[in-house]
Amino acid sequence: MSLILRVDDLGVAIGAVKPLSGVSFSLDKGETLGIVGESGSGKSLTAMTIMGLLPLIGGRVTTGSIMFDGSELADLPETAYRKLRGGRIGLITQNPMTSLDPLRKIGPQVDVVARLHLGLDKRAARARTVELLGDLRIPEPASIYYLYPHQLSGGMKQRIVIAMALAADPDLLIADEPTTALDVTVQAQIIRLLLDLVTARNLSLVLITHDMSVVAQTCDKVVVMYAGRAIERGAVSAIFDRPRHPYTQALIGCIPRGLTVTEPLKSIEGTVPSVAHYPSGCPFHPRCPRAEDICATEPPSFVQDRDSAAACHFAMAAAQ
Ligand SMILES: Nc1ncnc2c1ncn2[C@@H]1O[C@H](COP(=O)(O)OP(=O)(O)OP(=O)(O)O)[C@@H](O)[C@H]1O
Ligand code: SF4
Ligand SMILES: [Mg+2]
Repeated sequence: MSLILRVDDLGVAIGAVKPLSGVSFSLDKGETLGIVGESGSGKSLTAMTIMGLLPLIGGRVTTGSIMFDGSELADLPETAYRKLRGGRIGLITQNPMTSLDPLRKIGPQVDVVARLHLGLDKRAARARTVELLGDLRIPEPASIYYLYPHQLSGGMKQRIVIAMALAADPDLLIADEPTTALDVTVQAQIIRLLLDLVTARNLSLVLITHDMSVVAQTCDKVVVMYAGRAIERGAVSAIFDRPRHPYTQALIGCIPRGLTVTEPLKSIEGTVPSVAHYPSGCPFHPRCPRAEDICATEPPSFVQDRDSAAACHFAMAAAQ
């Protein structure tokens, strides 16, 4: 397999704050990578950085590299990014209404992507959109084409957003919590549909989610983020069978199993630090049950195992 995306030692600043640092991971063509972590850990910011959207929030890349199919994106000018974004890299966001214009019919909104990036004329773009809507198992796609977003359910709107992300035949899809805004019953359907399309088209997918069980069931690789850093990464089988970072162990410990009504849902004690107060040393030390003196002062380096790497001073011990 060949590499499609390599993020290496990525650091981001927004004004005086540094919400991301030392973020590294990679993805091969056709692979699915999950990014997990509690709220505020830096998942969306990582996606925004890869998509070149940091200038929108006054942010900039301060360190590191984002190699996409052999090209460096970290210093790519906006004009070049415009071709890539929506063209070779598609983004699916959490709330369909941030991607859809409520005042325009949905079909032409999808057409625009193929017209812009693939140079199709109006007729060809329309035919392509109707076909795509069919691939997304939208009933009667030729009629749905002429509806407005408010005439569709949340699940249908999210399918349209997925169609927009796929319309230019991208190589990489980034889905940021693509089902959070939907009913629980619809969430699993949309994830399944997304994964079927990714497999059928041999796409690479970065799936950002809070849901560890979705990652366990659907991804090849996983990156665990905490306080703006990627603290453990590796093959899903390795991370779920032998999590070596205490934070990953705690996240996996929170996955509900064999639910009984009397069993309370587990959570990790303490709160995620805010970007203005990231702890010194290992950022997890105020909440870590294994913390020792060194953890408060020395940032841990990555300790590599066969199929995973964990940034913990005691990662070797944690593996036993
Ligand atoms: N525009 C911004 N200006 C300043 N700080 C920001 C901005 N956007 C995000 N941050 C900070 O960056 C950190 C990471 O935020 P991010 O949105 O990436 O988290 P997340 O992991 O996606 O969380 P969630 O699961 O809630 O979506 C947070 O501490 C957040 O407060
Ligand atoms: S470095 Fe220390 S505080 Fe951080 S996860 Fe490892 S044991 Fe816990
Ligand atoms: Mg987010």
